[in-house]
Amino acid sequence: MKLALAAVGVAGALGLAAAGPVTMAPAPQQQALVQLAQAADQATLMREGGPLYSRQCAVCHGANGQGGDGPKLAGNEVMKNGGGVASQILAGAVEHGMPPFADVLKDNEIAAITTYAMNSWGNNFGVITPAAVASLRGGAAAH
Ligand code: HEC
Repeated sequence: MKLALAAVGVAGALGLAAAGPVTMAPAPQQQALVQLAQAADQATLMREGGPLYSRQCAVCHGANGQGGDGPKLAGNEVMKNGGGVASQILAGAVEHGMPPFADVLKDNEIAAITTYAMNSWGNNFGVITPAAVASLRGGAAAH
């Protein structure tokens, strides 16, 4: 929330800076705003993803992504492909012992877990958004 508030604060400051005949912020400032908004999104996904990971995934992949019945996720190259990870969560790997979560978790929850696992335990692999999960789900409504 702090980052979101910071983004709003900067937006306000830019608004003031652009007061007068010019109403649009110059491109570099818009870019800075977009980056701030993305950072705020990532912070929210990370915060929500931690407890969800503990509840749904840690039993097989370890509290610290170290693995167990399922492969380790810490330092796993697979985690660089956020779309692949989200698809794996949606569909599971039923014959190999991972259940599907398509009917258990909403798009934003899968985005949060995926982003959390992509950026924890030394991983630093970027963000996947709820909208991206929704399109992977193929337009089906989240339960
Ligand atoms: C009941 C145990 C179990 C649970 C719960 C589980 N997984 Fe898995 N997971 C597995 C197994 C087993 C595999 C290996 C599947 C295979 O070999 O195809 C796997 C594979 C994966 C992979 C691919 C790893 C690789 O190296 O290919 C990812 C990513 C993953 N799981 C993430 C998650 C996330 C995130 C959750 C929580 C939403 C979760 N899993 C919940 C057992 C589980």
